[in-house]
Amino acid sequence: MKNISKPYIDQITPYVPGKPIEEVKRELGLRRVIKLASNENPLGTSRKVRRAIEDFADQVHLYPDGACFELRKTLASRLGVREKEIIFGNGSDELIDLLVKGFVREGDKVISSEKSFLEYELVSRVGGADFTEIPMQDFRFDLKAISAAIDAKTKIVFIANPNNPTGTYVSRPELDEFLDSVPQNVLICLDEAYDDFVEAEDFPDSLFYVKLERPNVIVLRTFSKSYGLAGLRIGYGIACAALIEYLGKVRQPFNVNSLAQYAALAALDDEDYLNKTKRVVSEGRDYLYRKLDRLKVKYIPSQANFILIDAEYNADNVFQALLRRGIVVRSMRAYGLKDYIRVSVGLGRENRCFVREFKRLIRQIRKGRPILQDESLKGDILPNE
Ligand SMILES: Cc1ncc(COP(=O)(O)O)c(C=O)c1O
Repeated sequence: MKNISKPYIDQITPYVPGKPIEEVKRELGLRRVIKLASNENPLGTSRKVRRAIEDFADQVHLYPDGACFELRKTLASRLGVREKEIIFGNGSDELIDLLVKGFVREGDKVISSEKSFLEYELVSRVGGADFTEIPMQDFRFDLKAISAAIDAKTKIVFIANPNNPTGTYVSRPELDEFLDSVPQNVLICLDEAYDDFVEAEDFPDSLFYVKLERPNVIVLRTFSKSYGLAGLRIGYGIACAALIEYLGKVRQPFNVNSLAQYAALAALDDEDYLNKTKRVVSEGRDYLYRKLDRLKVKYIPSQANFILIDAEYNADNVFQALLRRGIVVRSMRAYGLKDYIRVSVGLGRENRCFVREFKRLIRQIRKGRPILQDESLKGDILPNE
């Protein structure tokens, strides 16, 4: 392989996703596992979506509608944009990939922040780009420093808003100022995978920029989180028609499978599920804040469905210790946050379980006791339902 591979791909460390529930059960011999690792929707599949998938199950021998006609029509009207201003992808992950494929040549520069979604770096490096990570300020994107780092080689700036894994956000005035400061030939990708969970009043209305016909802005959103369709892989981008048409040349003709399209249509029609999801996340976040405050544990206030928590100890060990108790969270070491874990907001009982186990751990950590060798930390402790 060495003599035919691309050196910049050889050097890449592959993305490590959150551990699947079945794998954890198998490896640790646990019966019950709570997964708070991948910012998924804790409510499970919506009933309307389940019905849509069942209704269309007998059509899987047919190729999907490559144009996503029905979904495009419905979504465009919902968002108040034109149909030709939307592109669908196999998750918003694919759209990040298409942007790099479409616009970045080997040696070009792509900019984002440190402690942001790792996919930006991964995809950029696969494309042979020089990926530049700008340090954060107080766990927030430093847009002034990003603007200053833009040079003639820069093609794309990725801004996750709210950001994964910090849960922080860029406000409307900050974004306005930033967009006015960047050259028109640099593409600004506003990745809003978590926008449905935002409660901040000064969060920007990103579609406003597209409607203002800023040709260098693309907004990415996904059905994976608030709509609960992570397993079906469907996301979308909104931008001016010319940009969408260009990206359409880069995508595979059948990039979005038919079940994902039917399910997304049904999900858009299930407002109760969306509202319930928002409520569960908002209440769950507040509950976790209260408990963490009581424990005097530091965390970053979040506008998303997860919280970044300072575990005061090697995050890989904390992850392992919680795993043995049947709770899967995410160690943030790969993001350069060596003592931090990211915990997705779950259902009430899942959050309570996490708090109970984390409380025990933090007490041991503070007493200077090892958290992994301790026999009391082994075994299946989750209550039967
Ligand atoms: C910031 C951000 N963008 C994009 C994605 C990708 O979402 P999907 O490919 O499931 O649409 C994620 C997933 O975790 C994310 O955190």
